Amino acid sequence: MIEALLWKVCDLITLKMNQELQVDEKSSRKDLVSNVDKEIEKFLIEKLSKLYPHAKFCGEESYQKMNLFEGEVWIIDPIDGTNNFIKQHKNFGMLLAFMKEGELLEGYMVDVLKREMFVAKKGQGLFKNGQPFKVEYNQKLSDSLISMSTDYLCSLDHPQEINHKSFGIRYIGSCCLDGINVVDGSLGAYLVSKSQVWDIAPHLLFCQESGLVALNLDKQEKTLSDDCVFVFGQKEVVLELIDLIV
Ligand code: IPD
Ligand code: CA
Ligand code: CA
Repeated sequence: MIEALLWKVCDLITLKMNQELQVDEKSSRKDLVSNVDKEIEKFLIEKLSKLYPHAKFCGEESYQKMNLFEGEVWIIDPIDGTNNFIKQHKNFGMLLAFMKEGELLEGYMVDVLKREMFVAKKGQGLFKNGQPFKVEYNQKLSDSLISMSTDYLCSLDHPQEINHKSFGIRYIGSCCLDGINVVDGSLGAYLVSKSQVWDIAPHLLFCQESGLVALNLDKQEKTLSDDCVFVFGQKEVVLELIDLIV
């Protein structure tokens, strides 16, 4: 049911992307939003509220302070990687998560243009386009590509060490697509330096349903409510990367 809705949203985004975009600045010239972000969020809320009449909606573009840990909550990032969406017309995704009484039950990471939908369901594991999905996560830092923002990399005392000790650095600029690259094993780890709940809620359920981890720089499990730098990825790679950083 939700998968079918999200495929429809993929079609809508693809259609709207090829029409003229209305772009506004939010907090700065590098923090943009388009009419498509707003329209897709509104569409999702309209459709989901018919299916879940008691649910609350925590969407990036219509966010109002709420208690996420009570009742049914849909967490929505209608376009993740909006700056890429506007500047490149590619390299963006969509993120969705469902929580009930504080427990993450469903997580969706969608590569809209590639038509790849990764889903985590509580107690059921991972799925890709409706089929069970499993990868052996046993890389080490030396054979892993890793991702982190250029801002964060440049803020480190020895950024060249990260490049040298890993297999290399690749950054897309979308929590969704960098996240999918971790899930499918093409990245060993992704360091998330700035995030809101809608950027990372699905990732936390993906960890619970696979061998992946999300650890803060104290090597503690990242939770939805703490706002911190954390690394999402294969355990060994994440631990080695944190040791290099701190
Ligand atoms: C952003 C992207 C980006 C991350 C930012 C997010 P948005 O989401 O995921 O990769 O570094 O912190 O805000 O604003 O494009 O949905
Ligand atoms: Ca986002
Ligand atoms: Ca967004």
